[in-house]
Amino acid sequence: MFPESSLNDSHSAELSQSQQFNINQAADILRAGGTVAFPTETVYGLGADVSNPHAIRKIYEIKQRPADHPLIVHIGDLAQLSFWAEEIPESAWTLAHHFWPGPLTLILQRSYRIPDCVTGGQRTVGIRMPAHPMARALLNALGQEKALAAPSANRFGRISPTTAEHVRQELGKTVDLILDGGACEVGLESTIVSFHAQLPHILRPGAITASALEAALQSPFLIAAANPIIRTSGSLPSHYAPATPLRIHSTELIGQHASALGAQNLRAVVMPWSGIDLTSLSTHASIQIHSMPADPVLYGRQLYATLRHFDQAELDYLLVEAPPELPEWLAIADRLQRASHH
Ligand code: TXA
Ligand code: MG
Repeated sequence: MFPESSLNDSHSAELSQSQQFNINQAADILRAGGTVAFPTETVYGLGADVSNPHAIRKIYEIKQRPADHPLIVHIGDLAQLSFWAEEIPESAWTLAHHFWPGPLTLILQRSYRIPDCVTGGQRTVGIRMPAHPMARALLNALGQEKALAAPSANRFGRISPTTAEHVRQELGKTVDLILDGGACEVGLESTIVSFHAQLPHILRPGAITASALEAALQSPFLIAAANPIIRTSGSLPSHYAPATPLRIHSTELIGQHASALGAQNLRAVVMPWSGIDLTSLSTHASIQIHSMPADPVLYGRQLYATLRHFDQAELDYLLVEAPPELPEWLAIADRLQRASHH
C-alpha cells in the first residue's frame, strides 16, 4: 500500500530497552482500543486509534472536551498523508516535506477513512507528523495503516502538559498508560495551517513562524484572523488559562503594578524577560520575581511549566512582562493573551 517506510530502526535505536518495552506495551493498548498519553516535541498528546470511534470517544470523556472539537491525526510517515487526506494542495506537500517531522499541523480534506468523531463532523482533518523519538517509535510500532488522534493531554481549557508529571496531574488514572519522554523541547502547541480556497492561512501560531513557512513556499501568505467558520478550540479566548488571574503589563509599567499589589499585601509573581531592574520590589514580602529567558525558544519551552507551577502556589496574580512584538514571539504572545482571559 505504501512506498518503503521512511521510518527505520535508527529511531528505535535512540531509545533504551525499557522505553522500547513501554512503547510496545503502548502499541498493544492502542490496538485494543485504549488510550495512551505520549510525548511530542510540542506538548504531550492523549492518543487513541484514529479508526476506532469507541477509543476516540474515550478521549473526549477523559478531557471533558465538547464532541464537536476536532482532533489532530498524528502520522509516522509522510507517505501516510494521502491515506488520511485527499485533494492535498501542492503547497501542503511542500510544507510537509519541509517541516515534517516537526511542529506543524496541516488542515486538509479528510479521506473516507477518518471517522466523523475525529473531526467533529467537519470535512477537513488536521494532520501532523511529530518529531519526538518516542512518538515516532510509537507510530512506527503501530504500523503503516494506523494513526493516532491526539489532542493535548490536559483537561479541556487548561494549560497543555509539557512533562509526563503534568499529564499525571491532569489526567491521573483515567488514561491507560503515560509514556515518559522528558520535558517537551518546543513547549507550545504546533503551528496550524489551513488551505481554505487553496491558500495557506495560519490558524494557530507556533514555533514554525509565518516567515519560515513563506520561505519554504517561496511566496507570501496571509496570517488569518480567527475564522468563525472553522472551529478551533485553541481560538476560544479562555483557552490555556491558569486558574490564577494572569495580567500582561508593559516593561515600563510592570514594576508599578507589582508594587501596588505588594502595598495591598496581595501575593503575586512577576515574570520579566528583559532584565529590567525590579530590585525596588524587594520591600514587598508578598511579591516574588521569576525571571524568564530573553530567548523566545527557551521562553516557549518553559512557559507552560512555569504557569503551572505558579498556578499551584496560591497567588492572587501572575504578572507577565509583555513579550516583544516580533514574529518569533508571536506564539508566546498568543498563548499569554489567551491565558489572561478570565
Ligand atoms: O502540538 C500539537 O498540535 C499538540 C500535540 C499533541 O500534537 N496537539 C494539540 O491538539 O494541540 P489540541 O486538540 O489540543 O488542539 C488541536 C487544535 C484545536 O484548536 C482544533 O480545533 C484544531 O487543532 N483543529 C483540529 N482539526 C481541525 C480542523 N479540521 N479544522 C480546524 N481546526 C482544527
Ligand atoms: Mg489543547
